[in-house]
Amino acid sequence: MIRKLQIQNFKGGVGKTTTAVTLSHCLALKGRRVLLIDLDQQGNASDMLGLKVAKNQPTLYNLLVDDLAYDQVIVEARPNFFIIPSDKRTAMAENIISAQPGRELALTVRLSEVSGFDYIVLDCPPALNVMHNNALLYSNELIIPIDMDRLALQGAKGILDSAAELEKVFKYSAGICGVLPTFIDRRTNITHQVMKVIETRYAPKVLPPIRSDAKLRQASAHGKTIFEYDSHSKGADDYRAVTEAIIGQEIDAAVSAPSNEPAQYVEEAR
Ligand SMILES: Nc1ncnc2c1ncn2[C@@H]1O[C@H](COP(=O)(O)OP(=O)(O)OP(=O)(O)O)[C@@H](O)[C@H]1O
Ligand SMILES: [Mg+2]
Repeated sequence: MIRKLQIQNFKGGVGKTTTAVTLSHCLALKGRRVLLIDLDQQGNASDMLGLKVAKNQPTLYNLLVDDLAYDQVIVEARPNFFIIPSDKRTAMAENIISAQPGRELALTVRLSEVSGFDYIVLDCPPALNVMHNNALLYSNELIIPIDMDRLALQGAKGILDSAAELEKVFKYSAGICGVLPTFIDRRTNITHQVMKVIETRYAPKVLPPIRSDAKLRQASAHGKTIFEYDSHSKGADDYRAVTEAIIGQEIDAAVSAPSNEPAQYVEEAR
């Protein structure tokens, strides 16, 4: 089964795209085949990978609106690592599918033929919109980055509430792959305070934390992943640990079959 990981928090700037791109590349470096779907009209995932989306390059818009096959909109970002890019037309695509019947399932229908990947990673904008619902119904696990800010805790709760709402209507919701603490700085009180809440609320679903590391910002500014920019940095070490934890879940029967009782994971984490 393909693991489909949605990276989401309704708060902006918590490290969603950094996590989507870095985790995808780390999985690919470990020999997994990965497809990253950029659902954000900002197109940050492509930017972080140094990919220029050409004007005539088909994007998520063409998949959703023009019915282009998924393999016509995929770009090879790195060996083993492919991306469906987004640009500002993603907002238009969202308006168009919002007016259609079955609007929450557009992505699931359009991607029903996808095969040959071990992981599909979905990078979402910080918004509760139709695209978010599409991602929730398509993915089978959620990764929720939480930076060291109380608003990010609210954003995480919002995701779980929206997953529970969708579950009522569609009788399906994604399970929790993990809550991912980001921008950790142990010298600050706020880090200790927020980590305490995360541990209390979400253990045992807490992934290894990501420390604040300026190298992560520098890498993305250069269009490189942290493994290309500085493989010995804190950021590279931390994302390697997260990737190993996620791969390690596959030997845990409860997580390797997340579709068994997905709603239960959401209820437990709320
Ligand atoms: N652990 C980290 N330490 C330092 N900087 C980081 C870290 N993680 C991400 N950044 C930087 O913080 C900024 C925001 O990160 P990112 O774009 O991944 O957040 P996001 O949640 O995707 O934002 P948005 O909600 O706008 O989509 C980027 O410049 C990124 O390089
Ligand atoms: Mg982003």
